[in-house]
Parts: sequence; C-alpha cells; structure tokens
Amino acid sequence: MSFSIERYKEESKKVDTAGVAWDEVTSHSLSNGDLFCLHYMMDIENHVPLYLSHLLVTRACMDPILTAFLACWNYEELWHGENLGRFLNLYGIEFDTQERIANVRANLGVQNSVSLMSTMAGSWLLKDFSSVYLSIGAINELSTLTGYAALVRRSGHPVLKDLLSRIIKDERRHYAFYFNSAKEWLTDNKKAQRVDRWMLDRVWVPVGQGVKTQEEVDALALHLFDDAQGEADLALIDEKIGKLPGLAGIKLLSKSLAAARERVRHNPRWAWRLIDNEEWAVKAPRKSPIGQLTTRRQPSDIAVTTRPESEVA
Ligand SMILES: [Fe+2]
Ligand SMILES: [Fe+2]
Repeated sequence: MSFSIERYKEESKKVDTAGVAWDEVTSHSLSNGDLFCLHYMMDIENHVPLYLSHLLVTRACMDPILTAFLACWNYEELWHGENLGRFLNLYGIEFDTQERIANVRANLGVQNSVSLMSTMAGSWLLKDFSSVYLSIGAINELSTLTGYAALVRRSGHPVLKDLLSRIIKDERRHYAFYFNSAKEWLTDNKKAQRVDRWMLDRVWVPVGQGVKTQEEVDALALHLFDDAQGEADLALIDEKIGKLPGLAGIKLLSKSLAAARERVRHNPRWAWRLIDNEEWAVKAPRKSPIGQLTTRRQPSDIAVTTRPESEVA
C-alpha cells in the first residue's frame, strides 16, 4: 500500500458523482437501521472541520506534509457529508443541512472545548503524540470504509452502493496516508510504540463517539456488524492495525462490538430502540436559535436594520 503526498495533492478533488442515478433513490427501500446509519455517517463526515480544529493546535501540525494532507482531506470529507445529505433528502427525509450541522455542533457543549484543550496540551507535552494521532487516523479511516461496505451489503440499495463505492475510494487513500505515516513514525521507535499502545488501549473510542452517544455508537455497530460477516470485518480491521510496529495483537474493534453486545445482554432494548423509534433527528439545543449558534446574521435581521440604498441621503 503506497502513498505519495505529491500525487495526492495533484489528484485530490471532490468525489465524482457524475452518473449516479439520483432519480432512482426512491425506487428502492431502506430499513430503519440503514437510515439510522446514514444519518450517523453524514453527521460524522460533516464534523470533520471541527475535528480538524483540534488537530491544528497540536504539535503534529508542525509537519508540512501532514498539513498539506489535511487541507485536501478536509475538502474531500466535506463532499462525503454533502452527498450523504443529498441522498437522504432525495429519499424523502427533510432537513436543512446547515441547520443540522449547527445543531450537532451546539449539542457538543463544553466537552468539545475541554477535549480541544487537552489534545493541545497533550500534544505539546508528549513528543510522540503524532504516532497516536496517526494510528487513530488509520483506524478511523479503515473503520469508516468498512462501515460503508457493510451498509452497502446490508441495504442492498443499488444507488447507495454506487455512491458509497465512490466515497470508499477516497477513504482508502486517507487510510493509506495515515497507516504509512504511522508506520514511519513507529518503526524502530520503541518509546513511540509504548505511548501509542498505551493510549490506544485507554483513550481510543470508535469513530463518531463523543459527537454521538455510546448508545448511538452501539446501534450503528450492531446494525452493521452483529453477525459472522460483521465480526470477520472488525477482526480484519484489528489484524491490519496490528501490523503497525508495537500494535501486534491489538483488539479494538472486536472488543468494542463485544462491549455493545454485553450492554444489549443487560438491556435487550439498548441501541435497537433508537433504530425502532427512528431516532436519527438531531434536537435543536434549547434557547439557541440558529443565528445565535453560528453568529451569522439572518436575512430577517438585515431587512430590519438596513435601509435600501435609495433611501440613504
Ligand atoms: Fe469520509
Ligand atoms: Fe476519510
């Protein structure tokens, strides 16, 4: 698996959707579980700029190769979110994308700022922070593309298959960058390997957790991976990540599925109730209209405070 940053910079572009049969989106049905996962995935793709804001304050961003990658990566992820939103809108689920993104961000609350500060401090205190960040990047990209492939399989929706297959190609390139960069950092670097292993075993969470609740993370995992094929998919992620120096035998995704199943064993309604009750809408935060969230002025504000130019003496 090779990766050239120069080639990536030249070739990076928004996902090409020419020829996607958008007019056939409603010709095939999706289950509640499929719709739940699509909303989750869209929200996490749309969360990338905020995730990026955490990285841009860290020591890792002293590296110009990394910042070049992030500049292109962020743009590509934007179009993943846009296209998943378009797909859902065409399927008949009505929401305003900008409003939904603003609400997701507002619901993060103070925990988002705490996480930003601790990532920043950790990166400057810990010389080998980059190895942790790069390994997590590799795990996240590989989990994402595995999740998309599982959704293609689960849903059997041909238009979704076409769209997600195109997005998966981008995610593969992202994975290649993170994996190769992590490998470079960890090779012959025992201290970085120890830090990486220690942090992954203790602070790693599945992609999306933090923006989404534990129960939402479990609902996605169970819908996509709660069978023999799903278990094999997750074991393969662990196996691939275990090839990084110092991470042999790591079992992050398999353990995560086992923990989700354990929570269902204690409460059979856990996670599945979110899917059954179609709980994929994002609630607007109390007392925070969209204008206050984004500080963007609304057309109605401008109409009240601005006189037409012809009236100005
Ligand atoms: Fe993506
Ligand atoms: Fe990605």
